[in-house]
Amino acid sequence: MPMVQVTLNGKTVTVNSAPDTPLLWVLRCELGLTGTKFGCGVGICGACTVLVGKEPKPACRELVKGINNARVTTIEGLDGPVADALRKAWIACDVVQCGYCQSAQLIAAAALLTRRRAPSDADINAAMKDIACRCGTFPRIRRAIHMAASALR
Ligand code: FES
Ligand code: FES
Repeated sequence: MPMVQVTLNGKTVTVNSAPDTPLLWVLRCELGLTGTKFGCGVGICGACTVLVGKEPKPACRELVKGINNARVTTIEGLDGPVADALRKAWIACDVVQCGYCQSAQLIAAAALLTRRRAPSDADINAAMKDIACRCGTFPRIRRAIHMAASALR
């Protein structure tokens, strides 16, 4: 098998899993990064969302053979001013309920605020629509994103 290398959370990592292994299993089982959650496993719930480059993607749908030399960011490596502003706003708005979807929500919110510093409600709805929250935290998520956006301006 050709060697697959990924820049994961800023560090170069060699992946040993088989080429058809979903990135989600690589993160959780091979590399022990369990902040990225397994929900449906078929690209529907969004719980496994990570950044591939600057794009939020469901890690259960990205295969090892397609990510050679990619830059991947998980919740464990999400840092910088945008991430800091989001974390503060998440706490201030008391967003989290069970927490299961929240790694993915923060990843998607960070991708949104990185490309758009003053998102409208419609921008937020569009950016977050692929990540389900069974606890119904979305109104607080939207409030927290607006708060983080204000703090960043
Ligand atoms: S676990 Fe990947 S989208 Fe549901
Ligand atoms: S906080 Fe429970 S699923 Fe979103």
